[in-house]
Amino acid sequence: MNLFDLAGRRVLVTGAGANGGVGHALALGFFRAGAQLAVCDIDEEGLARTAQEIGKTALAARCDISSEADVDALFARIKDTLGGLDVLVNVPFVFPRRCPPHELPLADWDRMFAVNVTGYFLCIRAALPLMLAQGNGCIINIGSNAGETALGRGAFAYSATKSAVHQMTRELAVEYGGRGVRVNALAPAQVLTPGLAAHMDNPHFRDKVLPRILMGLPMGRLLAPEDMVGPALFLASEAAACVNGVILPVDGGNLAMNAGGGAPGAQ
Ligand SMILES: NC(=O)c1ccc[n+]([C@@H]2O[C@H](COP(=O)([O-])OP(=O)(O)OC[C@H]3O[C@@H](n4cnc5c(N)ncnc54)[C@H](O)[C@@H]3O)[C@@H](O)[C@H]2O)c1
Repeated sequence: MNLFDLAGRRVLVTGAGANGGVGHALALGFFRAGAQLAVCDIDEEGLARTAQEIGKTALAARCDISSEADVDALFARIKDTLGGLDVLVNVPFVFPRRCPPHELPLADWDRMFAVNVTGYFLCIRAALPLMLAQGNGCIINIGSNAGETALGRGAFAYSATKSAVHQMTRELAVEYGGRGVRVNALAPAQVLTPGLAAHMDNPHFRDKVLPRILMGLPMGRLLAPEDMVGPALFLASEAAACVNGVILPVDGGNLAMNAGGGAPGAQ
C-alpha cells in the first residue's frame, strides 16, 4: 500500500473555499491522506471555514487565480513556507449564466476564459519551476465531461473552457513528462454541489432537466464531491507513476454510453 502513500506531500488545492464543493472535498481528502496542505480561494470567508475545518493547513491564502500578481505572490509564499510543491490541484471555475452562443456577452466569455483557462495556466506556470527544480511533480486539473462531449443548454463557453483544460493537460504531459512532472485531469459528470443543489428549487430543472441528466448517468445518481477524492489521490500517488496526459472520467459511465444506452430496465 506504500504505492498510495501521500504522507508529507506538499499539495496546493486551489478553489477550496466552497463548503460542499469539489475543491473543499479534495482539500479534506489530501489532508486526511497525510499531505501538507496549502489552500487558496477568492472567497476569504469560505476559505477560512475550510482551513478551520481542516485544522492544520500549511497555508491558507486569498488568491484570484486569474490575477498574475495574486498567483505569483501565492507561489512565493508556498516556496517560503513549504520549500517546494509536489502536487497542484486546479479546481476553480466560473459560469456566470447559461446563454445561447449568439447572445453571449463578450464579458462572460472573457471572464470564463480568464478564470477557467488562464487561471489554470498561471498556477501551472508558477508551479512548474518548483517541480522542475525538484525533478518531480504532479498536476491535476479539474476538467469536465463537458470538455469531451457537448452539453448544449447554453453551456457553450463553459464547455469550450473545459476542452481547453483537457488539451492543456495533454500538451503539458508531453512537454514535461520526461522531466518528472506528470499532468492529468479528472473529468466529472454532474456533481451535487451547492451550486447544482440550488437549481433543485426550480421546477423546470427538477422535473425536466434532472431526469434527463440522470438518464445519462448509468450508475443512476449524481456524483458527489467526495467521489473525486480517490481518483485524485491515485493520480497524485506513486501508484500512478506512469499515468500522464490522461483525462480520467469520474462520471459513473456517462462518457461510455451512447444515445441508445441505458441501465437494464431503462425505457
Ligand atoms: N459541479 C459540477 O456538476 C461539475 C461537473 C463537472 C466539472 N466540474 C468542475 O469541478 C470544479 C469545481 O466545481 P464545483 O461545482 O465544486 O465548484 P464550487 O463553486 O463549489 O467551487 C469553486 C470554487 O472556486 C472559487 N473561485 C471562483 N473563482 C475563483 C478565482 N478567480 N480564484 C480563486 N478561486 C476562485 C470559488 O470561490 C469556489 O470556492 C470546476 O472546475 C468545475 O468545472 C463541476
